[in-house]
Amino acid sequence: MLRKLLSYFASDIAIDLGTANTIVYVKGKGVILNEPSMVALGVDRNGLSKRIIAVGHEAKIMLGKTPGQIEVIRPMKDGVIADFTVTEQMIKYFIKKVGSQKKLFSIPPTIVICVPCGSTQVERRAIKDSALAAGARKVELIEEAMAAALGADLPVSSASASMVVDIGGGTTEVGVISLGGLVYANSIRIAGDRIDEVISNHIRSKHGLLVGDTTAEDIKKQIGSAHPNADVGDMTIRGRSTFQGLPRETVVTSQEIREALKDTLEQIIAAIRQALEETPPELSADLIENGITLTGGGALLRGLDVLLIQETGLKVLVANEPLLCVAKGCGLALDFLTENKLYLSRIR
Ligand SMILES: Nc1ncnc2c1ncn2[C@@H]1O[C@H](COP(=O)(O)OP(=O)(O)O)[C@@H](O)[C@H]1O
Ligand SMILES: [Mg+2]
Repeated sequence: MLRKLLSYFASDIAIDLGTANTIVYVKGKGVILNEPSMVALGVDRNGLSKRIIAVGHEAKIMLGKTPGQIEVIRPMKDGVIADFTVTEQMIKYFIKKVGSQKKLFSIPPTIVICVPCGSTQVERRAIKDSALAAGARKVELIEEAMAAALGADLPVSSASASMVVDIGGGTTEVGVISLGGLVYANSIRIAGDRIDEVISNHIRSKHGLLVGDTTAEDIKKQIGSAHPNADVGDMTIRGRSTFQGLPRETVVTSQEIREALKDTLEQIIAAIRQALEETPPELSADLIENGITLTGGGALLRGLDVLLIQETGLKVLVANEPLLCVAKGCGLALDFLTENKLYLSRIR
């Protein structure tokens, strides 16, 4: 009874704790925070104690430009908690920020957080504990692929299976959903960050230019392409010459980026093929009808849908607002908490 009353008054929240972006969704209000999962730490002179200087957007601005005493880290790199203490601080900061913005949380909220399906029990526990330590009354975890499917409006509770591929910063999650549960789930640690890394390696080896992470990501967003039909000309970029060590400019084309990305995208395709192979035959038949839905920031890579149609022979759709699907799905899962639906049951 008390719990019911509490949940009526508290503004429960859903957090997409992504490797690239953290998005907070509040029941009845929608997405109210969307910031990079980054933290700037100040290191004292002997390199021992560290304190948080900035979080989110403010930290991202500092990326690659910091003096020696400041480092910008991404505590969720690779889809799991790489740094427990900093992640906890980051979650606390974001929860506090949304709380103080709207004066929402006089009663501690219930929080739904998504976890990559490849994460271990220890990693899940760590995420749960971070949120509890950050002030949650109760924490429920939901698998990212399920959240993505819910947020993309897929018919998750229908008996007809659908496939979702969520390409984030650190991980690509592939899930097949039927009757409210994940029939198949897999996560590979190849996604947007790897694409950026391949782009900066390419620029270094072909153009003799060193570029930072931010530039590599800009190149991907502006001229990145996965299919010849999606190539979009070229772009002038700046970096440091590996030869003279001086700042220099060069021109890169969409086509060369596409060629450089071929092997990496092939690994994502392989993960999708494996999912198709391991899906029970009755459900495979449904996938011909329902196709594959792409979510996550990586879904925005130009021509990726066309490439996947070509490689799988299935329909491929990019979800509406792919960057927000997981957060929206976690938000929808909040409603199911009281209804006791299946979605959350596989993760404890
Ligand atoms: N237009 C775009 N084209 C290609 N990649 C993009 C685009 N916009 C964002 N991304 C990439 O999407 C990734 C972030 O997606 P997101 O779903 O927020 O990841 P996460 O859930 O891991 O935080 C980053 O690697 C980012 O570079
Ligand atoms: Mg994500």
